[in-house]
Order: sequence, then structure tokens, then C-alpha cells
Amino acid sequence: MTLIAIITLTVLVAAFGFVVAFGAPYVPSRRSDLKVAFSKLYKLKASDTVVDIGSGDGVVLREVSRRGARAVGFEINPFLYAVSRLLSRGDPNVQVRLINLWQADFPKETTVVYVFGEGRDIDRMGKKVQQQANRLNRELAFISYGFEVPGYVATKKAGAHYLYHIVPLQPREA
Ligand SMILES: C[S@@+](CC[C@H](N)C(=O)[O-])C[C@H]1O[C@@H](n2cnc3c(N)ncnc32)[C@H](O)[C@@H]1O
Repeated sequence: MTLIAIITLTVLVAAFGFVVAFGAPYVPSRRSDLKVAFSKLYKLKASDTVVDIGSGDGVVLREVSRRGARAVGFEINPFLYAVSRLLSRGDPNVQVRLINLWQADFPKETTVVYVFGEGRDIDRMGKKVQQQANRLNRELAFISYGFEVPGYVATKKAGAHYLYHIVPLQPREA
């Protein structure tokens, strides 16, 4: 094995090991499921801004852009961040940020939040979306892939996707 191959392997193992320790490991959403989610579950409009919290290789971001809406991805894994930047290069609808989702604020234009998280984090993700809806003082559509969000009642379900409407709470309710 060459030195470059060893360095590449070490970087990949470190990057993925970090994410396994601190958050959901990388598994992409199925494109066929996304098509259903953005047409039947929540009909995406060109005026929407979708934030994918843990955006992986950017498959969700590209599907959103294909439908004329704006997409913002937060990704902690530098390798996946680089891949998604590469795959969406030149696309003005897509923005990817190398950032820990727990420390990031959603852009003020956000209308939809997408997550393909992990069972152990889904409760915290729901609280994060609630906190950001309160901060923005705006209702957010919240789409979760694979997991129901504890404490909230889904308004709709399509395949493995659940749709929630997170209403901003006043300070004494939050
Ligand atoms: C199951 S994958 C989903 C990827 C993409 N959203 C999709 O549906 O195809 C979860 C992603 O979240 C990222 N992730 C995990 N913890 C994170 C954190 N704290 N901040 C940002 N991204 C995180 C992982 O690196 C991984 O790419």
C-alpha cells in the first residue's frame, strides 16, 4: 500500500469514527422515497428553503434543488462535506456548511427541516427544531425519515417519512 493510500484510509476511518461516536452514521436517503416525500407528503414550492441537518453526500439537497427550491445542508463529516460540495458545484440553490448541527442556527428563510437521524438522537432533534422555530418565530415543517419524533404528533406519513408542523412557542411555553 502506498503512503497516499494509507493517509487516505486513515482520514476516512477518523472522519467516520468521529461521526459514529458523536452522531448518526452515514446512510443516504433513498431517492425514490425522497421523490414521494417532496411531492405527496410535503409538496415542495420554489419559495421553500429546506435545511437538511446532517446532509451526508447531499442527495436531499440536490433533490430539493431539482424541484426549484433552496437547500442548505449542515454536515460534520469533512469527507461527506467535500463530496456534497463537489456534486452540487455550480448550483446556486445549494449551500453546504461544514458544521456541527447542534451548534448551528437555521437560516432566517427556513421553511422546512429534513432529518435522517438515529433513534438515540431523534428526541434531541425535535427539541432543536422547536428551539429554532421559537427563535425564528415561524412554523416549520419537519420531515423525519425512519423515526417518529417523541412528543409530537405527525400530521402525515408517506412510506418511511413522517411530517410534523412545529409551531413556535411563546417564552413561557417553551
Ligand atoms: C443517516 S445520514 C443522512 C444523510 C442525508 N441527510 C440523507 O438523508 O441522505 C446522517 C448524516 O448526519 C451527519 N451528522 C451526524 N452528526 C452530525 C452533527 N452533529 N452535525 C452535522 N452532521 C452530523 C452524518 O455525518 C451523516 O452524514
